[in-house]
Amino acid sequence: MSEALLTFVHISDTHISPDSDYGVQGGVPAANATAEALVRELRRLPFEPDFVLHTGDVIYDPVPEAYEYARAILGQIPFPVYYVAGNHDDADGLQRVLLGRAEPQAPFCYEVNRNGVQGVVLDSNGPAEPPRGNLVREQLAWLAQTCDPADPRPLWVGVHHNILAVGSAWLDEYMRTTNGDELHQALLPLRGRLRGVFYGHVHQSLTTVRDGILYTSAPSAWVVFRAWPGSSETVREPFPEPGFNVVTITAEQTFVRRWSFRV
Ligand SMILES: [Fe+2]
Repeated sequence: MSEALLTFVHISDTHISPDSDYGVQGGVPAANATAEALVRELRRLPFEPDFVLHTGDVIYDPVPEAYEYARAILGQIPFPVYYVAGNHDDADGLQRVLLGRAEPQAPFCYEVNRNGVQGVVLDSNGPAEPPRGNLVREQLAWLAQTCDPADPRPLWVGVHHNILAVGSAWLDEYMRTTNGDELHQALLPLRGRLRGVFYGHVHQSLTTVRDGILYTSAPSAWVVFRAWPGSSETVREPFPEPGFNVVTITAEQTFVRRWSFRV
């Protein structure tokens, strides 16, 4: 196997709140305490990742002060962190507070180039009834402009919402990107280079491969949900294990290691 080109930690759905007790319910610890435990785990990793990808829902209520708490907790991560905006986020506040950006951009999409690997972060908060997502046409046009199928570099995509249907009404009809199939069509010309679409939002580990494209989610760093085939409502895991994924991209392949941690 060839050497790793890129290794990153995929985290998601921290739901940090100004209320330090937010999220305590039925054996699930507070969201802030779990986010702090996640940061402790990242600080003691026995290797140095190239970066951390946070696929959104950094906070619970989209008020600027929540991002101050997020900055206090996630600012302790000793690696670069790339953020994706989720449906619980305010992309404007996220950029102002976490990135120190005076003029936030909308939609919040950008390109990451590290170690000869191209990454693109999409903003799936287009018009849709929350918690559903949508990728506005401008996003899809930007993706086509930014990613050339003939570019020899491996490519990854970060997005908040789930893109493809998996046979659970809760995930497919209540949570999903309304035009996920359009994104898949837009990604098809890139599949020779595309090493994975990394997302959050669903608070569980899911993997789908369609037309040779890998879509894989990180569990929430707070509460974990379950969705069996046919599930139509939000169900919490009774014995939740918050977690994160470690993603490695080599010249030939992608692999994902899934880890859980205790608070
Ligand atoms: Fe979400």
